[in-house]
Amino acid sequence: MKLLITGGAGFIGSNFIHYWLKSHPQDRIVNLDALTYAGHPESLKDIETNPNYQFIKGDIADGNTVEQAMDGIDVVVHFAAESHVDRSIIDPLQFVRTNVLGTAVLLNAALEAKIKRFHHVSTDEVYGELGLEDPPFTEDTPYNPRTPYSASKAGSDHLVRAYFETYGLPVTITNCANNYGPYHDPEKLIPRFITNLLEGEKVPLMGKGENIREWLHVGDHAEAIDFVLQKGEVGETYLIQGEEKTNMEITQTLLSIMGLDESMIEFVEHRLGHDFRYAINGEKLKSLGWERKHSVDSDLQRIVGWYKENEWWWKPLKEGRPIVDRMAQKSYGSKIH
Ligand SMILES: NC(=O)c1ccc[n+]([C@@H]2O[C@H](COP(=O)([O-])OP(=O)(O)OC[C@H]3O[C@@H](n4cnc5c(N)ncnc54)[C@H](O)[C@@H]3O)[C@@H](O)[C@H]2O)c1
Repeated sequence: MKLLITGGAGFIGSNFIHYWLKSHPQDRIVNLDALTYAGHPESLKDIETNPNYQFIKGDIADGNTVEQAMDGIDVVVHFAAESHVDRSIIDPLQFVRTNVLGTAVLLNAALEAKIKRFHHVSTDEVYGELGLEDPPFTEDTPYNPRTPYSASKAGSDHLVRAYFETYGLPVTITNCANNYGPYHDPEKLIPRFITNLLEGEKVPLMGKGENIREWLHVGDHAEAIDFVLQKGEVGETYLIQGEEKTNMEITQTLLSIMGLDESMIEFVEHRLGHDFRYAINGEKLKSLGWERKHSVDSDLQRIVGWYKENEWWWKPLKEGRPIVDRMAQKSYGSKIH
């Protein structure tokens, strides 16, 4: 089988490529990635010379590039996106271009190439936010995105469904929560906090750390996508459940692993449109037989270890980078709620 992976130099895409080449060594992978600030070819250094792996530097919104990349492809797994909420507050149009237009260009080319499956990777943020007592999201929860990031991902999900309904393109969609694991860009919460602490800096925690997120190990995510490709029904969406934790709980676990105390926390203002809670009811996927293997509490020690051992990977990414959450708050300071 020949797979086209979009955004394979990003966090989840690179972990997925590692997973796939290991568990399906006979398959061939084409990785189409524009190498934006979030694309790190270093994450794939160890497989660069694998004869079953090919890299194409290109933009998913560019029809010609996508058409060429689609040649001979059986299955598309679409990760490429602008993915950082704070950046979406600063530059929403870039998110619409990549996440909505880019997905439409891919869908068109996939239809033309008569591929066997188009799998779209999306987020639980399309469903909006939950209160403490609300039941978790299901596949039937109405869409209610509240940030330019989640709105652009919602737009891409709708397009994928429309290509199934209108043209019969064989699609599946998964929506999941925050991922964690190796090769995670140090501008996202867990790696940012770990690397700040490793460098003796405080960690910026929004509000009082009361916001709740679900956490899914990136390896569980890769296995779940593989499972949906094999057992999922065409035209269906599946939610992949993780574990709920407050941001304070995650911070306290990291501090305790690193032998530090809460004086290393710097409390900062909430971002604009900061969703309070996300939670997923993953029964639909579980009923097909999929199970999560990892647990965030027991994994964090290992993740801290990975960042300690792989400074070569994350240090250059942090150096000289603007801190985007502060920029997002500054440009719209009066609207912070
Ligand atoms: N990270 C999470 O916790 C999480 C949770 C749920 C869903 N998702 C979804 O999973 C997917 C992957 O997320 P991630 O965290 O790995 O993202 P990421 O930001 O780490 O990586 C995105 C990758 O896409 C590439 N890219 C961006 N624009 C492109 C374009 N126009 N053409 C080609 N390539 C382009 C980047 O270079 C990068 O390699 C995204 O669709 C995201 O919405 C992420």
